[in-house]
Amino acid sequence: MAQVIDGKALAKRVAAELEPRVQRLSGAGAQPGLAVVLVGDNSASAVYVRNKTRACARLGMAHFDHVLPASTRQEALLDLIAQLNADARVHGILVQLPLPPTIDARLVLEAIDPRKDVDGFHPSNVGRLVVGQPRFVPCTPLGVMRMLSETGVALAGARALVIGRSNIVGKPMTLLLLGENCTVTVAHSRTRDLADRVREAEIVVAAVGRPELVRGEWIRPGAVVIDVGMNRVGDRLVGDVEFPGASERARAISPVPGGVGPMTVAMLLSNTVDAAERAARSPRGGQ
Ligand code: GUN
Repeated sequence: MAQVIDGKALAKRVAAELEPRVQRLSGAGAQPGLAVVLVGDNSASAVYVRNKTRACARLGMAHFDHVLPASTRQEALLDLIAQLNADARVHGILVQLPLPPTIDARLVLEAIDPRKDVDGFHPSNVGRLVVGQPRFVPCTPLGVMRMLSETGVALAGARALVIGRSNIVGKPMTLLLLGENCTVTVAHSRTRDLADRVREAEIVVAAVGRPELVRGEWIRPGAVVIDVGMNRVGDRLVGDVEFPGASERARAISPVPGGVGPMTVAMLLSNTVDAAERAARSPRGGQ
């Protein structure tokens, strides 16, 4: 049976590591602060945002919550971002996605000051990751890397399969694994023979949002499997991997819930503390 990677416990450890840094900053009058913007009434987004703000509060960080109706105009949202960019108490700005279809998400993400872009979605931060000079790295893939490191799996030369090519998870995940010298394959909705790709993989990161798409019997014995999926099926929350079968073959596997989810939040806290420390070092806005 596989080792089950306890994301909740690991997230607690990450938070405990951050605590002295938060205290040091707060003692110097620079309490780390995160602004969280939620537009519309997506119920999953509301849960994620609540988890994020609660985690800030638990760690002694400030949070500034902006909950706006779905009818919010793009200009009003851009004005709010400009205000948050200029607010010295705010070190990180997070606009929860998805945004309502009346708003151009790309414009909004580009309006965030890259030095406050703790989600790592601004093109300048994406570009930095591509060229190997990362500033802020998207929280979910960063959390996955930390989970992989906990398992002790050797990354250099390993065959890694990323299933999903989103800007939030699949693409940055691919770059991070490549940065650790994995041989990375990216699969997506148009990939043929997904089962064969999974069978070859020593590391599988599933992030497609299709309940139990990856069958347990596809998993290579001894593989490490990280499941980023969060799919509601009736009253159950299931991942992209069929857990019971996969956990019989994998060496280590992350559960849903209690796997990647808490790690995403922990990495958001970590990015925000990094942002606050950088701001404290160069208060007039260096790089
Ligand atoms: N929606 C789904 N995941 C994320 C995330 O990591 N950040 C933001 N802002 N929105 C999301």
